[in-house]
Amino acid sequence: MQKLLHMSKKNLAETIDPEKIPRHIAIIMDGNGRWAKMHGKARVFGHNNGVKSVRQITEAAAELGVEFLTLYAFSTENWNRPKFEVEALMLLLVETIKKEIEVLNKNNICLRTIGNIEGLPTLSRRALMKGIESTKNNTGLKLILALNYSGRDEILTMVRKIAQKIENKEITSAQLNETDIEANLYTAGMPAPELLIRTSGEYRLSNFLLWQVAYTEFYFSPIMWPDFNKDHFYEAILDYQSRERRFGKTSEQLQ
Ligand code: FPP
Repeated sequence: MQKLLHMSKKNLAETIDPEKIPRHIAIIMDGNGRWAKMHGKARVFGHNNGVKSVRQITEAAAELGVEFLTLYAFSTENWNRPKFEVEALMLLLVETIKKEIEVLNKNNICLRTIGNIEGLPTLSRRALMKGIESTKNNTGLKLILALNYSGRDEILTMVRKIAQKIENKEITSAQLNETDIEANLYTAGMPAPELLIRTSGEYRLSNFLLWQVAYTEFYFSPIMWPDFNKDHFYEAILDYQSRERRFGKTSEQLQ
């Protein structure tokens, strides 16, 4: 049985077209709390188990040659959760980074963040900085954790930066273009995600990468994040590969 399961996993991965792997995949990891409740446990139990999925999906993305994997780990709205849960999430972040730095380095994975990192507790910030510093020369997958992240806040920050440049007469409003906007987002230098996955059967964007997802393909999975495994990830990529991305053109124009 174990062997059979292993084979089916391998086969699914083998059906993925290596020429059409998304360069950037973004994931809204949702359902930890409900998963914990289904198991008769506290919400934090779900977050702890969510880390296993983070590990599996990061590994799968690296194996497939995905260049950027962005995980929505903590939104600015998440501060409104019970104090205990917020503290547990921050602690989990610190512990996970400490534990995984070696694995990240072994797999040539480079850790990065997007979001208002200054607004995180000192301990989390320090662990993050250490993780980023120690993996910065890795040339494989870029693993980007969205932390204290809000898409609207990112846009507001970008507008402020550009307004300042206009005030300083470095640029005029007439010269401003989309490249200037992208250069002033947290994601500067990264391609937009081709695929965005949200787990747990919710159909929302929840303030994630608002500018960047203009032409992104969305994939919604009913699976709760702690149960989301490599096979589910492969299925999302296969679904993406079956779609026709038209960018406003007609099918005929693409041929
Ligand atoms: C959403 O589930 C999950 C989060 C807000 C946190 C995600 C965190 C992890 C997966 C673990 C830590 C991650 C890293 C990178 C160390 P939810 O709590 O909103 O679930 P619910 O919708 O069922 O309540």
